[in-house]
Amino acid sequence: MTTRFSAFLSGNPCELDLHRFPTTSDPNLQAWDAADEHLLKYLEESNADLANKILVINDSFGALTCALAAVKPDADIVFAADGRTAHLGCKANLAANGLANTNVDYQDCTDIGRNAQGRQILMKLPKNLNFLADTLSQLSQTLKAGDVILLGAKAKHINQSLLALIAKAVGPATASLTWKKTRVITIVADGSPRPAPKPSMWDVPEHGLQVTNLSNVFAASKLDIGARLMMEHLPQGQFTSVIDLGCGNGALGLKAAQSYPDARLYLADESAMAVESARRNWALNGLDTSRAEFIWDDCLSHLLSEVQADLVLCNPPFHQGEAITDHIAWQMFNDARRVLKPGGLLHIVGNRHLGYHIKLKRLFGNCKTIASNGKFVILQAVK
Ligand SMILES: C[S@@+](CC[C@H](N)C(=O)[O-])C[C@H]1O[C@@H](n2cnc3c(N)ncnc32)[C@H](O)[C@@H]1O
Repeated sequence: MTTRFSAFLSGNPCELDLHRFPTTSDPNLQAWDAADEHLLKYLEESNADLANKILVINDSFGALTCALAAVKPDADIVFAADGRTAHLGCKANLAANGLANTNVDYQDCTDIGRNAQGRQILMKLPKNLNFLADTLSQLSQTLKAGDVILLGAKAKHINQSLLALIAKAVGPATASLTWKKTRVITIVADGSPRPAPKPSMWDVPEHGLQVTNLSNVFAASKLDIGARLMMEHLPQGQFTSVIDLGCGNGALGLKAAQSYPDARLYLADESAMAVESARRNWALNGLDTSRAEFIWDDCLSHLLSEVQADLVLCNPPFHQGEAITDHIAWQMFNDARRVLKPGGLLHIVGNRHLGYHIKLKRLFGNCKTIASNGKFVILQAVK
């Protein structure tokens, strides 16, 4: 895996050492992609001066932000991303490249229009097109006619329906020629503010719950099948401190709140929109807010050391962005073990073929299958 990133910007070469967050030795996982390089190359070849105020959206681990900060140290840069690991990755990469003191402000993507006006905007195409439409509609609230957004993407993801979605959300778009299998889409705002798309909302009648999801949250319009199996097989007991790790919209935490009336709940996710959705769902279902904490974190990295859980519920992700990887699940299981009391339970659901039982046995020395169907298994390990 290479960590050496090279670009040429404002007539200057820029060499950076960039790592993913958390760092990984997997040779297939790099901290940037060709669309990042293409965006910077496109900027350089456009001969336009770099602006003093820049907004960078969906920069995976800060490659764009670090390059801009390196060649224009006095620039005022806003880094906007939904993922906590993106924020932590950008901060770590800035620090590792001696750029920690540059002027970078951080925000999530729940109110992105707020900082957009008068900025040069660079953006990476997210995987989730509802999230793209939401982000662009938010930008349409404040951009003036003629303002430009440069969007970097893999060429295979660019088609007429994507360009139509962009045009509907903010203004017309045209794609560059292909370079290293990527293109840069130039979007020109038409100056008309669009209403932001409404969060999705649905019922889970068998559990008496109502759920709403902001645009970048897992399981957009119905309960995940793994979560459904998990909700049917929650462990029985008098739990008092329960963590929903990777909570998404909070479905597991909401069910736990119903099932364990004496429990204090901690709902944690790396997506700011997930955490906000879980918070809204807690209120939507009339639960007592003094019983819950909503945590935007990379797994449980920053959970206060006084939190000692007797149950951790987890439906772990098996990818990070576009990369299929089990390293987040592994980190979640390790973090769960760290915060559990002796005798506490980690209760997980996973796709049968992912082999999580091997990981749990290695970590806890035990693992029991609680339930399964054709596709998923519920596993439990005791600390
Ligand atoms: C399979 S979804 C499960 C969501 C929800 N618990 C459910 O069962 O419907 C996995 C969740 O893990 C979150 N996630 C991914 N990486 C994470 C990390 N490093 N730290 C915390 N949460 C993470 C994702 O944002 C996503 O919401």
